[in-house]
Amino acid sequence: MLQVNNIDVAYGDAQVLFDVSLDIQQGELVAVIGANGAGKTTLLKTISGILKPQNGSIQFGDKVISEQPPNRTVADGIIHVPEGRLLFPQMSVRENLRMGAFLTKDKEAINGRIHSVFEMFPRLKERAAQMAGTLSGGEQQMLAVGRGLMADPKLLMLDEPSLGLAPKLVQQVFDLAQQINQEMGVTVLLVEQNVRHSCEISNRAFVLENGRIVLQGPGSEMLQNDHVRRAYLGL
Ligand SMILES: Nc1ncnc2c1ncn2[C@@H]1O[C@H](COP(=O)(O)OP(=O)(O)OP(=O)(O)O)[C@@H](O)[C@H]1O
Ligand SMILES: [Mg+2]
Repeated sequence: MLQVNNIDVAYGDAQVLFDVSLDIQQGELVAVIGANGAGKTTLLKTISGILKPQNGSIQFGDKVISEQPPNRTVADGIIHVPEGRLLFPQMSVRENLRMGAFLTKDKEAINGRIHSVFEMFPRLKERAAQMAGTLSGGEQQMLAVGRGLMADPKLLMLDEPSLGLAPKLVQQVFDLAQQINQEMGVTVLLVEQNVRHSCEISNRAFVLENGRIVLQGPGSEMLQNDHVRRAYLGL
C-alpha cells in the first residue's frame, strides 16, 4: 500500500534521514520506534508531503506521492495526526471533529462519521460542546485521533499519541490504535518512543536510530531482540 524507497531527507544542510525504506501492506499496523531526535516526525512529514526527500521516492498504491503537495496526499487518504495534537482550542469538540472532514461535502457522511467517532470515544460524546482547549490531555489526544478518523483515512499516521499521558491512558491510547486498525479496518502507521506497547500491538516494527532503519521485523520478535531489549527496554 505504502512504499518508502531509500529516502534521504535534510533540513538545509543537516541531513536527518539516511536511505530510509519501509513498506506497509493494507490492513497492517506498523510501528516505527526510535528515541528523541531519531527522525520519526521527519519521516511522517515526508510521507505527508510537507517535506520533500532529496533522494528516493514514496509510493502509495501505484502512485508516486513524494513530488505532490500535501493537500493531494490528504485527498489520497493519508492522514497525519501530528505530535502535540494541534487542535483548535477555542472550538468545541464537535467543531474540531467537523474540521477533520473538511474535504467532504456530504453532510450525512460527516454526521455518520461523527457518530462512529462518538461510539469509539464515548468520552468525547459527553463533551461534544466543550471547548477543545479545556479538555484533559488524554481527552485532547482522543480528539486528535478522532479528528484524523473524520477524514475516513486509508492510512492513518499517528505521531507519538502516548506522549505526556499518564500510564493508564497510555494503555488506552494503544488499545485505541489497535481497535482502529482491527475493528475499523484502517491501516495504521504508528510512530512511538514507547517501544514495549508499540511492539505489542504492531504487526511489524521498524527501529529508527539517528535517521537510519537499523532493525525490522514482527513486533513480537522485536521484543525478543537483544539490541531492542538492551537499548530500549533496559533489560
Ligand atoms: N525544522 C527543522 N530544522 C532543522 N532541524 C530540524 C527541524 N526539525 C527537526 N530537526 C532535527 O531533525 C532531527 C530529527 O527530528 P525529528 O523531529 O524528526 O525527531 P523525532 O524522532 O520525531 O524526535 P521526538 O521523539 O523528540 O519527537 C533532530 O535532530 C531535530 O533537531
Ligand atoms: Mg517527533
